Amino acid sequence: MLLALAFTLATQVVAEDFRPIYHFVPEENWMNEPNGLIKIKSTWHLFYQHNPTANVWGNLNWGHATSSDLVHWTHEPLAITSENGVEAFTGTSYYDADNTSGLGSSTSPPYLAYYTGYFPSNGTQDQRLAFSVDDGASWKKYQGNPIIPAAQESSHDETGG
Ligand SMILES: *[C@@H]1O[C@H](CO)[C@@H](O)[C@H](O)[C@H]1NC(C)=O
Ligand SMILES: *[C@@H]1O[C@H](CO)[C@@H](O)[C@H](O)[C@H]1NC(C)=O
Repeated sequence: MLLALAFTLATQVVAEDFRPIYHFVPEENWMNEPNGLIKIKSTWHLFYQHNPTANVWGNLNWGHATSSDLVHWTHEPLAITSENGVEAFTGTSYYDADNTSGLGSSTSPPYLAYYTGYFPSNGTQDQRLAFSVDDGASWKKYQGNPIIPAAQESSHDETGG
């Protein structure tokens, strides 16, 4: 009887599909840590390390979700994609209110996302920039990437990549 009661109580706080109720998870497949959390106007943006094609680490992209209350989340398309042999590792984001980057449009200030580029072919990394001029809905990779090349980092790289 106690077991049955415990089971009843437990099932009341478990979602029907066994997904966590309070902790964000992607619609499917692998996620790692949050990246570049930022509030733009009244919308909270959560980015996170995400493999959209398999439930294992690898093929890392920035997944994206938005919320108006930090409880209910809407899944959004990938923000920064793995492309041309460069995966999008972890990073941060920044509101460039003064358009210091010059990446803003005439009407919209730029939001910047800094991420580590990772080359699975040889394990090296560099630092890259992406930006949004539509309040975080979509993200473009900066044409001048990498902004800090692996060679420039190497003298500070104590781990050999
Ligand atoms: C941001 O700078 C670029 C490059 O100078 C300019 O074309 C654009 O109009 C600027 N946008 C804003 C909002 O100031
Ligand atoms: C690693 O691979 C990338 C992409 O092919 C290349 O640009 C870079 O020079 C390589 N770095 C080293 C140290 O081999």
